[in-house]
Amino acid sequence: MLITFEGIDGAGKSTQVVKLKRHLQELGREVMTLREPGGTEVCENIRELLLQSKHDIAPVAELLLFAASRAELVEKVVVPALGKGTVVILDRFSDSTTAYQGYGRGLSLELLGKVNGIATFGLRPDITFYLDISPEDALIRKFSEKSLPLAFDSEELDRMESSGLEFYRKVRDGYLRLQEAEPERIVLLDAQLPPATLHEQISALVEARQASRQGQE
Ligand code: TYD
Repeated sequence: MLITFEGIDGAGKSTQVVKLKRHLQELGREVMTLREPGGTEVCENIRELLLQSKHDIAPVAELLLFAASRAELVEKVVVPALGKGTVVILDRFSDSTTAYQGYGRGLSLELLGKVNGIATFGLRPDITFYLDISPEDALIRKFSEKSLPLAFDSEELDRMESSGLEFYRKVRDGYLRLQEAEPERIVLLDAQLPPATLHEQISALVEARQASRQGQE
């Protein structure tokens, strides 16, 4: 089973990934968690290039770097793990590319569809949790957690995060459209709910999805 988490930076995905992993392990499931971009040495190097460098990367080059990292991760790690019956939880997957490089950077959705298809080898998540929050609230959350003053030129922000509020508004809008187009797969959740409440909703939905998959087998 492949479970993915999506949302703009600061939506609280990582917290939910950790909670869901623990929950499924307690139920006796083999679980692997990964974050994108990352997961193998090559992917971590691509991550460094994409997020830590202050270089201005051309939008199509940025798209292909995220895609290259995904292709490496899917082929080397995700597909073999799923083959062994492991539950794989991904912190971001191809919907991030559609939202950030498509809606955010303005690349054509046709190009996005093609590149995503190549990078994932056609692999689709069984369920995706989209944690929805406004860019303003996400930014406030990020800075208040660290007790820092709010600023877009802060050293605290990586290359993507320095893209500005207008960019994040487009990314959020992209996620909402994706969710509307695929409500069966993408579950819309309010990221401002308490983490424990969100976890309860998420784990209940995962268990229901697992039960229905087993019923179909
Ligand atoms: P990360 O530190 O993992 O951010 P977060 O904790 O919010 O997940 O950095 C990933 C960044 O890369 C994030 O800003 C989203 C961006 N991104 C894309 O633009 N396209 C993609 O396909 C992926 C996977 C991530």
